[in-house]
Amino acid sequence: MAKITVIGSSSIDLVVTASRRPEKGETIIGESFKTVPGGKGANQAVAAARLGAEVYMVGCIGDDVFGKEILDNFRKNNVHTDYVEPVTGVESGTAHITLAEGDNSIIVVQAANQYVTPDYIDKALNTIQASDIVLIQQEIPEDTVEHVSEICKMYGVPLLLNPAPARPIRKKVIENTAYLTPNELEASILFEGEDFHDALKRYPNKVFITEGKNGVRYFDGGQEVLVPGNPVTAVDTTGAGDTFNAAFAVALAEGKSMKESLRFANLAASLSVTKFGAQGGMPLRNEVEELL
Ligand code: RIB
Repeated sequence: MAKITVIGSSSIDLVVTASRRPEKGETIIGESFKTVPGGKGANQAVAAARLGAEVYMVGCIGDDVFGKEILDNFRKNNVHTDYVEPVTGVESGTAHITLAEGDNSIIVVQAANQYVTPDYIDKALNTIQASDIVLIQQEIPEDTVEHVSEICKMYGVPLLLNPAPARPIRKKVIENTAYLTPNELEASILFEGEDFHDALKRYPNKVFITEGKNGVRYFDGGQEVLVPGNPVTAVDTTGAGDTFNAAFAVALAEGKSMKESLRFANLAASLSVTKFGAQGGMPLRNEVEELL
């Protein structure tokens, strides 16, 4: 069984559905409102656990009712919570999501997720060291991501950095990272001013640009490869990237080839968009295998 540590954010998503987004200064009537578990870190942990990995989450929650919901949700999904701690007097992270015109827009309030500091991570050193792969994203402080990249390098544990939401990344962090998975927008910030075909070539088998339903693009050392996505009717694309990253990590940790891992990840991500909510459509292992 693949052993995966996920370091990152845990939030509650506050999701409004509307036929369109309001203009600046405008009020419109929406269609529905729901609260569901989210946060890129938590989403990736849940997705990896549903795909059959043994998952350890490292993160912080608020000492509020959302914090309790987040914790219950981890437990329901068989994610180990030894390193998920409440922060006294602080709210849980929230994501304010508008679903309209077939896509989402999101404002994240980090709150407790800002307390996922380098010192906090050190509590989980033994777990990190014993992992087949570590997954991290960017809804936690930049210094923490750098610190984790150094720990992983020191222990020889591969690190998969999902650089979302977008922000520039220090060169040292890129060097310490085994797999980097920007979407097209994130890639344009990471490799600003550079043609992304050149960027892929510079990082063979390391940088994977996700292109939504088109699939994922990388340079395999000889040529650029596009592993195509699986066409489905999307209900909600929130969490598709998280499912992709988790499934990619699970497949790599199980020793699948690069192409097989990307195919597995694309299929898992395609299933995730067929239901409402970041975690609502995240598939179980057998559901992906049926498609394979
Ligand atoms: O990647 C999707 C996630 O991003 C949502 O669940 C939301 O919490 C935001 O952080």
